[in-house]
Order: sequence, then structure tokens, then C-alpha cells
Amino acid sequence: MSILSGKKILLGISAGIAAYKTASLVRLFIKAGADVKVVMTPASIDFVTPLTLSTLSKHPVVTSFYNEEDESAVWNSHVELGLWADLFVIAPATANTMSKMANGTCDNLLLATYLSAKCPVYFAPAMDLDMYKHPSTAQSFKTLQDFGNIMIPATSGELASGLVGEGRMAEPEDIVLFIENHILGNLPLYGKKVMITAGPTYEAIDPVRFIGNHSSGKMGFELAKTAANLGAEVTLISGPTNQSLQHSAVNIIPIISAQDMYEQAHLYFKDTDIAICAAAVADYKPKEVALQKIKKDDSALTLELEKTKDVLASLGAIKSDQFLVGFALETNNELEHAKGKLKRKNLDLIVLNSLNDAGAGFKSNTNKITLIDAQECITEFNLKSKAEVAQDIFNDILNKLHA
Ligand code: CTP
Repeated sequence: MSILSGKKILLGISAGIAAYKTASLVRLFIKAGADVKVVMTPASIDFVTPLTLSTLSKHPVVTSFYNEEDESAVWNSHVELGLWADLFVIAPATANTMSKMANGTCDNLLLATYLSAKCPVYFAPAMDLDMYKHPSTAQSFKTLQDFGNIMIPATSGELASGLVGEGRMAEPEDIVLFIENHILGNLPLYGKKVMITAGPTYEAIDPVRFIGNHSSGKMGFELAKTAANLGAEVTLISGPTNQSLQHSAVNIIPIISAQDMYEQAHLYFKDTDIAICAAAVADYKPKEVALQKIKKDDSALTLELEKTKDVLASLGAIKSDQFLVGFALETNNELEHAKGKLKRKNLDLIVLNSLNDAGAGFKSNTNKITLIDAQECITEFNLKSKAEVAQDIFNDILNKLHA
């Protein structure tokens, strides 16, 4: 999954020959999962048709303040467009459009939208090499970047004039990559490695039976998604679940038993910055696993169980700089038990769920948590969706890491 997935991208097209490449750009943004709207300068429609772009973006393309398609709407609102967008990408950005942006000129819808946009603005210059080198263009680049806009540099190569030099708009693939990397680079967990355990473990009794639990894995998967969206590289070690997650920054390691989870967690932990054990690991497993299916007879069946390894405690015992987080699901003396686990397992933070709170726990889509840190500072949260809970947990971790 691209970091652009779910983002609302407003593409502004000004009148350069590179405008023909914007059809591919719209396709790539949509392939990345973004919702795309297009605003064009009136002159740019000579280079690429609004019909092409509205077909590809599945939204009407706007080119003027006057709304010809919907007279009841009277005008195309630059303010609305500017507020709609999470990102405004101006590609190609011609010398003329950049000069107007730099000077606050506002004689078309694209420029009015630029002036009212509150989101990050990227611009990809495109022009002939002498125009590109002209001091007034250099001045526009500087002014626009001083305003906080982000320039996607032009490249060198053959230009529409036949001349060879700097001024070619970056290729659509490179524009997408540039924006993805720029967003990622500014995310708070960029460059960090996060390891998460999730789901139940199954402890084999014989080839067809196991001891398991009702953990859905949802909390762990939400944590993994949140960490990836905050820019982290995530390893998600998961027991058998129905959850799915497709994100280019999440590496899912499927495991079955507590022993598998222990081994995989130790493989990745050394190279991890933040580890969160959200799995409901079985505390006991059958001492002997029958090689053949156990046949029933008239007598009762007794299984001898032995303890599994405690993954979280074993990580706490070897941790150096890692920030280690555990979960505690309790039914009584909740705070006391959670504080005990925090100390015993050498954690930086524990997430307490009480089964006494309606909507908290294993199978539901919601959770109600209390966070307790190593200084025993306690923060209580309301009942929320597991996605919101994941965000709360990472907000707390980020605050502690930056404190
Ligand atoms: N945990 C683990 N490996 C185990 C058991 C637990 O990693 N074999 C982790 C869980 O992922 C969770 C935390 O330890 O983050 C708390 O687990 P829990 O079973 O509630 O705690 P225990 O210490 O086993 O205590 P008890 O069962 O008595 O409540």
C-alpha cells in the first residue's frame, strides 16, 4: 500500500507541453489509492483535454470560475477545492504560472486555488532550458520554496524545442516517488523499525487438534497499520487470524505456536526500535504432542501441560535501547496486576484492558485502555475503535521518545 492511499490529491495543470504526461500521472496517483481532482489553467487545455483527465480521475475537471456543467452551482469554488485537497501538485508548473504564484497574481482558478490551499503544495517545473536558467525563474523557485512549497526538480534531457538541457518535467513515476518519499521522510516514525506480535497461538495436541484462544488479532494489526502509516518499517509476527493487511512497509511473519513466536521475535528484536507484544500467547502447551490422531475410548483423557516461553518477558530480559510495550488483560485488581507485569517483564509501557469494561478485550472492534509507563504514570482513555486506540498508543510512545 502506498503512503498516498486514501489521500485527496488536487492536480493543477498549467500550459506546457509536458501537460500530456499528466494523464499518466493521474493514473499513477489513482493506482496508489489516491482520490484525484484536476484543476487546469485555460491555456493548458490545448495540450491535454479535460475529457481525458475527467475520465481518468472520475471527477469533473475544472478550468474556470464559471461552472458550465452545473449552472445551479454557479461557480467553481477555489476555496472548496483548496480545502478538499490533502496535497496540491502543480505539474507541469510553467514559468508563467510559477511567476504568478510567487507574486500572488490570481487571474485563473488554478492560481486562486493555490492562494487558498492550506495543504502542502508540490510544483514540478517544466520549460525550455534558457527559460529554466533565467534569473527570474530562479527567483520564482526561491520565492516559492521560501513560501514552504516543495519543488520537484526538473531533469535534463531532450526538450520539446529539440534543444538538450535542463527543464524537462520529472517523469510521472518519479513525481509519485518524490512525493511518497517526501511524505515518508517527514513522518514521525520514519527510519524506525517496529516489531509487533498479534493474534492467538495454537498449541498442538495431535495432528488435528490444538489449544487456542479467541484472540482476533485485530489490535495487533491496527497497531501495525498505524506504525506503517507513521513511516515505520514494520515486522508483524502473527498467529493464525482472519485479519489481512497489505502495506508495503509491513512484513507479516505468520506463525502457529508460542515457540514459533518466541523464535521469530528474537530474530527481529535486536534490530528493532519499538516492540509491542499484543499477541494472546498461550501460557501452556501439551507436554507431548501425539504423532497420530488421538482416538477416543471410554476413559477420560488427561493432557499434561507445560509452560510456554513468555515472549515479552524474554525480550524485557535482553532489551537494550528498544522501547518495549506489553498488554495486560485483567479481570480484578487491574492496576496492581498491570504494574506488576510492567516491572516483572521490564517494560517501558503497558496497555491495560479490563474485562470489566464493556466493549474491551478480544473479539470486539473497540477497546478501552489505560496506559501505565515505567514511572507508573497512568493515562486512562475512553472506549474507542481499535484503530483509534492504536493511534493513542503510538501518540504516547512518540511523546515519550521525544521527551
Ligand atoms: N506474553 C508473551 N508470551 C507469553 C505470554 C504473554 O509475550 N507466553 C505477553 C502478551 O503478549 C502480553 C503480556 O505478555 O503483552 C501479558 O500477557 P498475560 O498472559 O496477560 O500475562 P501473564 O504475565 O502471562 O500473566 P497472567 O496470565 O497470570 O495474567
